[in-house]
Amino acid sequence: MSEPKIQDVARLAGVSPSSISNFLNNRMGQMRPDTQAKIQQAIEQLGYRPNNAARQLKTGVASMVGLLVPSLANQFFGALACAVEAAATRYQCHVMTFSTFRDPDRERAVMADLLAYGVKGIITGSALSDTEHLAAVTSRCPVVAFDIKRNDEAHDRITTISMDNAAATAQAVQHLVTLGHRSIALVTPPPYTLNRQERIRGFQQAVAAAGITGELVIADATDGPSDPHGDTRLFELGRSAASRIVTSSARPTAAIAINDMMAIGIGVGLKQLGRRIPADISLVGIDDIFFCAAHDPPLTTLRQPIQAMADAAVKCILAPDDKPDGALFAPELIVRSSTATPPQP
Ligand code: RIB
Repeated sequence: MSEPKIQDVARLAGVSPSSISNFLNNRMGQMRPDTQAKIQQAIEQLGYRPNNAARQLKTGVASMVGLLVPSLANQFFGALACAVEAAATRYQCHVMTFSTFRDPDRERAVMADLLAYGVKGIITGSALSDTEHLAAVTSRCPVVAFDIKRNDEAHDRITTISMDNAAATAQAVQHLVTLGHRSIALVTPPPYTLNRQERIRGFQQAVAAAGITGELVIADATDGPSDPHGDTRLFELGRSAASRIVTSSARPTAAIAINDMMAIGIGVGLKQLGRRIPADISLVGIDDIFFCAAHDPPLTTLRQPIQAMADAAVKCILAPDDKPDGALFAPELIVRSSTATPPQP
């Protein structure tokens, strides 16, 4: 069934389309309360969603880009949202940002509302392996999937922008190997997102290439604290995984976390177990969120080129003739004092 139009609402309410337009734009003037009630009832009965794209064209109201992130509670996505806004402002465009908690049904519902609003395009950062719900939108507006590396066979018109996630963990391993580490753990939540799978792949390839021991610690605490804001659980998952690092038979002298929030949690857990960072165990994160430099000791991490990726993602939507094709961006190793030579056996 096609989307109801303003004419359908007018017919049902028994008024003119211009009265509906006045109602939607709060230009009630002399409109009687019972007329307003009839219009509201017709809108709800038909499930009418005003198409703001047409309104924006007529009124000159600024265009909008939709941004869906797993959770703004993860400072990385807060920084990404700011970077996308800075990029969109250069095109006189605003950004509507939503946390979707990697729930495809919530992503689908939010995208339907964004399409009804008339956004110029949608950027989504959930990195879910199933992108079918995103492909369904590409016929309506440009869709950029952040944090996904696609093979060339994908022809679903979804553009991808991402840091090279495999390179991030590989660089972390190489940094630790250079310091002399020969047994390293990678700590991650369950790898149901493509970016985590890529980080695991980069880790496993790098430890194999270096001929050292690499242990994968999948941290999942079903009895862990609820996660109303998404991603905040990563701190606790990291803290509780510390005991598995110190009791591992592989005796890792360094730990790489899937991201900084998890690394900070691991750091707290290690200290609670009486371990010193980096004297006993070196620690590396990924993202370079603000707290890395404030961490005790300041955290070595892989910085994501957030603004460059945001600029590219916004270009894909607002300057499609100038857009990069599915770009991968290089991470940058930021060495601080949470990594050092391993303790002598
Ligand atoms: O899973 C969340 C992580 O994915 C963020 O911390 C950032 O690293 C993103 O790439």
